[in-house]
Amino acid sequence: MNPQPLITTTEAVDKAFYVIFGISGIALLGITVAMVYFIWRYNRKRQPQPISQKDHNVWLEISWTIIPSILVMVMFWYGWEGYLSLRRIPDDAIPVKASARMWSWLFTYENGRTSDKLYVPVGKPVKVHLIAEDVLHSFYVPAFRIKRDCVPGMDNYAWFVAEQPGSYDLFCAEYCGVGHAKMITTVEAIPSPEFAAWLTVKPAVAEAGKELLQKHGCLGCHSLDGSRLVGPSFKGIGGHQVVVTSSGETRTLTVDHDYLEKSILDPGADIVEGYPPAMPPYAGRIPEEDLKGIIDYLMGLKEGGQESAAPQEHAPFETAESAKPAAEGHSEPADLASLGESLANKNGCLGCHSTDGSRRVGPSFKGLMGSERTVVKDGKEIKVMADADYLRRAIHDPASEVVQGYPAAMPPFPGLSDQDIESLHAWLETLK
Ligand code: CUA
Repeated sequence: MNPQPLITTTEAVDKAFYVIFGISGIALLGITVAMVYFIWRYNRKRQPQPISQKDHNVWLEISWTIIPSILVMVMFWYGWEGYLSLRRIPDDAIPVKASARMWSWLFTYENGRTSDKLYVPVGKPVKVHLIAEDVLHSFYVPAFRIKRDCVPGMDNYAWFVAEQPGSYDLFCAEYCGVGHAKMITTVEAIPSPEFAAWLTVKPAVAEAGKELLQKHGCLGCHSLDGSRLVGPSFKGIGGHQVVVTSSGETRTLTVDHDYLEKSILDPGADIVEGYPPAMPPYAGRIPEEDLKGIIDYLMGLKEGGQESAAPQEHAPFETAESAKPAAEGHSEPADLASLGESLANKNGCLGCHSTDGSRRVGPSFKGLMGSERTVVKDGKEIKVMADADYLRRAIHDPASEVVQGYPAAMPPFPGLSDQDIESLHAWLETLK
C-alpha cells in the first residue's frame, strides 16, 4: 500500500505545518507592510483629495483572486498529503491494541502480552488499534504528531514509527472524567532485539501482578507510587494498618490476605477512613486466579504459593437471599423496601448515588422513581420515564442509557435478579 519510502507521521505533519506556517508568515508580513504603507501614503494630511475616481481594475481583481486560491490549494495539497501519510499504514506495521478506559491505558500485543506502557521497537512502524472501553478518550503522542479519538463502538487506528530510542509522553486528550488528567503513560522505544526479547519473556511475578491491576482497571483509582487518587494508594499496603469504617463503626485493621480479598469482592464492607465508598464490588467479575495474583502482588509475596485457598463461597452478587439476614425480623413482602435498601448498601450503589438529592458520580436516588429523565441512547438524547423497567435496564446494562450530564461510569450488575430489582424499586419509591 505504501510503495514510496517510509514517511514518518512526524515528517508528514511537520512538512504540512511548515508550509502552512511559511505561507501564512509571508502573507502576514506582506499585508502588514502594505497596510502601513497605505496608511502613510494616503494619509488625509498628505493626500487631502482623492487622486483617482477609478472604481475597479480587472487585472488587479483577477490576480488577487487567483494568487490566494493557488496559495490555499498549495496548503491544501500539503495538508492532504500529510493526512494520507497518517492514514496509510505501512504493510509491515506491528499491530498493537490500545484499550482506553477510565483512567488508564492497556496495550495488548500480538502474542497476548499486555503492558501499561506502549513498548515499540525503534525504526519499525507500529499500528495501534484504538479501543474505548467506556467513554471517549483520545490517544495523543506529541512526539509522533498523532492524536486520534478512541470512540466507544468504533474501530479507530493510528500508526507511527519511533526513529530514536527513548521514552515519549502519551496522553489522553479527551476529557473523560475526574481521572482524565492522570491518564498519562509513555511510549517506550527500545532496540528491536530488546523488544523481541521483552515480548516473549514471561513477566516476573511483580510485573504480572501489575498487569493484572491494569487489566482490571484498578490503577485508575489506586496509585502504585503513594499518590492519592480516588482510592488509597497501593504503595506499601501489605501489613500496613488502616482505619476503616464498617457499618458505622470505626476500627483499625492490618492489611492481610483476607482483608484484601474482602476489599476487592465486597469493598462496601470496610471503607478506609477519608475515602469515598466509590468502588464497585468485584465479586463475580474477577477470575479466581486473577484475584489471587493481585492479592499476592499487593502483599508483596514472592514465592508462587501452592494452591491453598479453598474455593471461594462468595455468591457472585449480594442477592435477596444473602441479604435477607440484614433485614432481620422482616420476612413479609411488605418489607421489600428495607430489603432493597440493604441490597443498595451491599452492592455499593450508595458510593455513587446519594439519597438526599446531592450529586455524586451518578444521579441521586432521591425523587428518581416516576421522574422523567433525559438519557443518551445510541448517541441520541431521549426522554424516558424512570419506572421499574427503566430501573432493570439501568442496573443490568447501565451503558445502554446514560443519564445526560453523567459519565458512563457504572459497571453492569447482571447478578441482581428480578426480585432484587423489585426490592430496590420498592425502596427507591420511598425516596420521593
Ligand atoms: Cu481518558 Cu481523558
